[in-house]
Amino acid sequence: MPNESLTITDNRTGKTYEIPIQDGTIRTMDLRQIRKDESDFGLMGYDPAFMNTASCRSAITFIDGDQGILRYRGYPVNELAEQATWMETAYLILKGELPTAAELEEWESSIKKHTFVHENLRDYLKGFRYDAHPMGVLVSTVGALSTFYPEAKEVLNPDLRRRQITRLIAKIPTLAAWAYRHSRGHPFVYPDPDLSYSANFLRMLKMNQSNYVPHPDVVRALDVLFILHADHEQNCSTNVMRSIGSSQADPYSAIAGSIAALYGPLHGGANEAVLRMLQQIGSKDKVPEFVKAVKDGSAGTRLMGFGHRVYKNYDPRAKVIKGLAEKVFAVVGRKNPLLDVALELERIALEDPYFVQRKLYPNVDFYSGLIYEALEIPVEMYTVMFAIPRTVGWLAQWEEMLTDKEQKIARPRQIYTGYDLRSYKPISSR
Ligand code: CMC
Repeated sequence: MPNESLTITDNRTGKTYEIPIQDGTIRTMDLRQIRKDESDFGLMGYDPAFMNTASCRSAITFIDGDQGILRYRGYPVNELAEQATWMETAYLILKGELPTAAELEEWESSIKKHTFVHENLRDYLKGFRYDAHPMGVLVSTVGALSTFYPEAKEVLNPDLRRRQITRLIAKIPTLAAWAYRHSRGHPFVYPDPDLSYSANFLRMLKMNQSNYVPHPDVVRALDVLFILHADHEQNCSTNVMRSIGSSQADPYSAIAGSIAALYGPLHGGANEAVLRMLQQIGSKDKVPEFVKAVKDGSAGTRLMGFGHRVYKNYDPRAKVIKGLAEKVFAVVGRKNPLLDVALELERIALEDPYFVQRKLYPNVDFYSGLIYEALEIPVEMYTVMFAIPRTVGWLAQWEEMLTDKEQKIARPRQIYTGYDLRSYKPISSR
């Protein structure tokens, strides 16, 4: 028995149990021994939405939600956003350590080698309607990748696993850019392996602007956004990645599921919803009226880009993004007029007792859309912009799960609330 334990007395039977406490948790399987009598199944935990249940051990991302701290492999995210490149950060998240110069060179060149996608995928993509949402297209095309790499099923083979990880990280910007270009009816632009990850993505996205060469500061801004969105421990889409992966499905199918989870407005879809909300509000003077409507429920929406399951303080990513927005506006030579609406919304919400009492602060999605808008990236692409870097986090978490001896197929229990036994009645007597 570890030093720390919990003594539980079952008042139904008067029996007492000693349950070990390790790392501030008890194992809910230890509750199973607590039974009313021999025929009883044993006590379970009930925790809808995993409000207080740790589903794994993880060494990737650390969050302290009360203090607003986020670290990847021990490094504060703001330090990485200031000093690291996107490819260095991706390597760190996946492999646990920052790369040496030689390791980084090898990592970048292996990613560049895999940026092209099979020509059949191009034809597949053309089958979508002209106005298909790029997130829907991304879910499908990433899922379809699994049919091109049947070896990906061998998820317990570390070499094959690493190959799929490289392929996914390399190909997702190509599929993302093509999803957008399809929605505009523009010809697809092939990857340019001479460019950096972010520069290549911007070029594939915007090639119709003749001889488009992304400004180095814009490329750096995108690198920073990618760093900030790379991982966020056991959020909804990561939980999906681990859950699908736990059945040993191939990683393309699992990532398609994670992208689908990210699509929702309460998760990654919030960045698109924020911009639409700011457009709907329209001007600074309309903000108080909107905040009132959110509180009394008549707005029909929450304040998008506010609140977080884990952060009960300012989201550290939002702080960096707010500063980054100013830099991007200076480079592109225009300020997004919606910034004033956003700043006013933040000012009012941070003073309002409704938001203060519930500890609702701006999250990562509040300001990111304003930067994308300044970069002339269309609103439907915002969640896609989130999915690209989060692919790195999903894959790191997937590999960690597969190599964790304690993990098995994810299979929660339930409390059955339906009918007791009933007998079938023929349709004539119903
Ligand atoms: N606007 C207004 N009220 C809110 C908001 C909001 N954005 N968020 C939470 N609340 C209220 C909620 O109504 C509840 O009030 P009450 O106690 O009176 O019922 C209380 O705050 C607690 O909310 P909850 O739904 O129990 O909190 P949760 O941890 O389940 O939800 C959240 C977290 C992120 C889903 C939620 O805050 C939300 O819907 N925010 C808006 C959507 C958003 O910005 N999502 C992006 C999250 S960050 C990036 C990511 O995950 O991808």
